Amino acid sequence: MGGACVLDADVERILLTEGDIDKIITRIAAQIDRDYCAPDKKLVLLCILKGSVVFMGELMKKLTIPVEIDFMRVSSYGHGTVSSGNVNIILDIMRSDLKECDILIIEDIIDSGKTLSYLSRYLKLKGAKSVRTCTLLDKPSRREVDFTADYLGTVVPDEFLVGYGLDYSEKYRALPYIGVLKPEVYR
Ligand code: PRP
Repeated sequence: MGGACVLDADVERILLTEGDIDKIITRIAAQIDRDYCAPDKKLVLLCILKGSVVFMGELMKKLTIPVEIDFMRVSSYGHGTVSSGNVNIILDIMRSDLKECDILIIEDIIDSGKTLSYLSRYLKLKGAKSVRTCTLLDKPSRREVDFTADYLGTVVPDEFLVGYGLDYSEKYRALPYIGVLKPEVYR
């Protein structure tokens, strides 16, 4: 195997192992099972592409209650560099039954808080029966708008994280753990 093909070599250290993540998701799934276990609930997990796809895939397998899934894709102008506050919807949720849906937005990470803050308001205005949020990771030190997720995996430090859905320039999403990227990779 050539060194250039091994993405692990670009990781400085592992922040969360597969085992750590599994425990976190098991805990969150139990909370969701408990909170949404009622005959009048219609739980829809809403995956925010692309980073949340791995988390959502694992989370839905651990739920024991009935669940539907859906997807949205958004982008924020100048994300990470300029705080414009604009969130663009690239792929919208298309459901005729939204008024009956208890939407749980699934995110891999909260940074400034703008994406989830915007999406929560958007889905309520669009008529969802209820809207809550769930994130695997949270970087509160980066917050620009006041926002707290209803379900939180774990707080992480302000470092460049990759793996388990998180990317740098579309790479590293498939790593089965969450690691800190070596600075020389992105500098
Ligand atoms: C990341 C992450 C959230 C958002 C969080 O997505 O998945 O959607 O940024 O940042 P915020 O709290 O500052 O709004 P990104 O734009 O990197 O797209 P991706 O999921 O396709 O990688």
